[in-house]
Amino acid sequence: MQNDIQEVLISEEELQAKIKELGEQLSGEYEGRNPLVICVLKGAFIFMADLVKRITVPIELDFMAVSSYGAATKSSGVVKIIKDLDTTVEGRDVLIVEDIIDSGLTLSHLIELLKNRNAKSVKVVTLFDKPSGRSVKMEADYTGFVLPDAFVVGYGLDYAEHYRNLPYIGVLKPEVYTK
Ligand code: PRP
Ligand code: MN
Ligand code: MG
Repeated sequence: MQNDIQEVLISEEELQAKIKELGEQLSGEYEGRNPLVICVLKGAFIFMADLVKRITVPIELDFMAVSSYGAATKSSGVVKIIKDLDTTVEGRDVLIVEDIIDSGLTLSHLIELLKNRNAKSVKVVTLFDKPSGRSVKMEADYTGFVLPDAFVVGYGLDYAEHYRNLPYIGVLKPEVYTK
């Protein structure tokens, strides 16, 4: 375990088992619909890669980079599009892949954007949900794990761009972000 991590909250095995389950559910939902599966960079990149391997029906992929946190630990409320989609979503069934929903601001902006671009349907799969952080009403269609109100990192989630590469979800030692 890395030195800055206080405890492992969700192990690699638990993550992979849940992702397999989500992949099976999504394969049922999107059979014959050729959905556009959108990865919200950067946080969702590992979840996206593991999830799409568990989806057994035809899909297309695209990537979008947005950021609301920067180097801060709290959302600034301003969602910046850093990289837009390459694909048009008009008339498409769209599945947004997120790593975590906290305040809900990132997703509420994204969903509105994609609906304004006339997507046929917009659904969300998130690996993690932290309901205690909400500032706007937001619920995913598919959720992996509900997290407590702790500063967690790993499996795509960062603190100041660090720890994304951890294969598990860990709780960050408070001294790392209070100093
Ligand atoms: C994080 C996370 C989600 C979003 C959730 O992204 O990956 O996208 O915040 O928070 P919210 O519900 O309060 O909007 P961040 O903006 O840190 O960018 P990153 O994915 O590049 O780390
Ligand atoms: Mn993100
Ligand atoms: Mg971040």
